[in-house]
Amino acid sequence: MATVQALPPANPGFHSGLNSGLNGAQIFLVDQPGVLEHLRSLLAGEACRVTGASRSEEALAKLKSGPRPDAILIDAHLQGQDGLAFLSMVREIYPSVPCVIMSCSYDPRLIVDAMRRGALDVILKPLFKNDVVETLRRCVQIVDCSLENQAREVPLADGNSFVFASERMRTVFSQCTTIARVDLPVLILGESGTGKEVLAQFIHKMSPAAHRTFLKVNCAAMPADLLESELFGYEQGAFTGAVKAKPGKFELCNNGTIFLDEIGEMPPALQAKLLHVLQDGSFSRLGGRTTIKVNVRVVAATNIDMKVAIAERRFREDLFYRLNGFSLHLPPLRERREEIPILIRHFVRKLSDKYGQKSLTLSDEMLRACKSYPWPGNLRELENFVKRLLVLGDEQMMMAELRGDRRSFPSANQSADTTAMSLKKLVRRVKADAEAEAIVAALDRNNWSRRQAAAELKISYKALLYKIRDYGLSEPQSIRA
Ligand SMILES: Nc1ncnc2c1ncn2[C@@H]1O[C@H](COP(=O)(O)OP(=O)(O)OP(=O)(O)O)[C@@H](O)[C@H]1O
Ligand SMILES: [Mg+2]
Repeated sequence: MATVQALPPANPGFHSGLNSGLNGAQIFLVDQPGVLEHLRSLLAGEACRVTGASRSEEALAKLKSGPRPDAILIDAHLQGQDGLAFLSMVREIYPSVPCVIMSCSYDPRLIVDAMRRGALDVILKPLFKNDVVETLRRCVQIVDCSLENQAREVPLADGNSFVFASERMRTVFSQCTTIARVDLPVLILGESGTGKEVLAQFIHKMSPAAHRTFLKVNCAAMPADLLESELFGYEQGAFTGAVKAKPGKFELCNNGTIFLDEIGEMPPALQAKLLHVLQDGSFSRLGGRTTIKVNVRVVAATNIDMKVAIAERRFREDLFYRLNGFSLHLPPLRERREEIPILIRHFVRKLSDKYGQKSLTLSDEMLRACKSYPWPGNLRELENFVKRLLVLGDEQMMMAELRGDRRSFPSANQSADTTAMSLKKLVRRVKADAEAEAIVAALDRNNWSRRQAAAELKISYKALLYKIRDYGLSEPQSIRA
């Protein structure tokens, strides 16, 4: 299991939130009396109150009349009623009380159905103390902690982390931890920069294949034949230049996870082959005759509207349904603004060593400006913003940038105050600023048509999109909150 760490305190008054036990929590169980007794014995030392009912009507009556519970545990197979239908009814009475489904097996369909109906988690029966306590702690923390106390960080590969605090992201976190355990394809949807890759890494980390290989393939970054050989490999002599056989990523991450990024852009010619792999795990290398079988967990992501892509026949509907074993929606940053100070703190910690700045103090005005800016490039834009702030250390200029005054990029002259900056850093900064300025000018001249601007700048459309994203550029009218 991955360690989920509370973020270190921003100031002495900031609590870690990790240590909230079940003290005083009200737990309501909907299951047979024997299970209620068992649960009470498991939680005997936890100073929480466990009540319950065995039948759904009795449970509903008690829930309506009794005190609001902190967590509700529901058996998937209730006497006389489907536990999931009952879950839906409970969610109507108490939409924000965390509900956990208990089941005798990890049936993927049941898990997906439970998640869709709003369950926080699905746990296995028979119940064991550690599982129950850990799950209930999460429920209780969700109910009564301040946002700062809710902030969590899961360390991932390459110095990255999954940081979250808002209610919507806590739901995403719970859904991921549950869905990660079952071998279902997952489709991550979300605007550019919302953290789709971070989430894919997190799902892998929480899955039983966590110690196996995780590989990413960007389906938009190369032409169809190159992508095909990247995914499925090739035999010697399959095409000019194929001097020796090479395995594809599907083979390389057998028993692990493959992350198909920008799946919505996958060339149609390859979609049929991918569908085949998803159906029975088999394919052949380019130029190969033998069939290779693999067992690979597929996590895919896209920022395009798949319904439109399907309607326009750019994406196969059958492949979409195969990929969409479970879909996760990452909300844009503007819909979880409350996380902004927490994320800024995280990015400062992540980047400070690299940029030689140990800390960063933001004025209240600056924080307010950050919270009201729409962040069209989402977390990537925020991260780049923190990067620039760490390098430039000029709050006024960065505020002007948030206000939409793009012409406030420093010129080489303005960069003269370089006493604390290495030459290398200065050159990087001036180069980046000049490039960003040229891009904004070209976009302005072309009425923000990215295709026309790319043609004018003589770079590919994709390269321009990447640069727009990396520099966190946005159209002037959408800059003001
Ligand atoms: N929840 C998060 N916690 C910490 N860092 C995050 C989080 N989400 C995103 N980031 C950071 O923001 C940047 C963008 O994230 P990521 O690449 O996962 O986004 P994306 O949705 O895949 O973007 P794109 O659609 O442009 O490929 C990365 O540097 C990542 O580390
Ligand atoms: Mg991505």
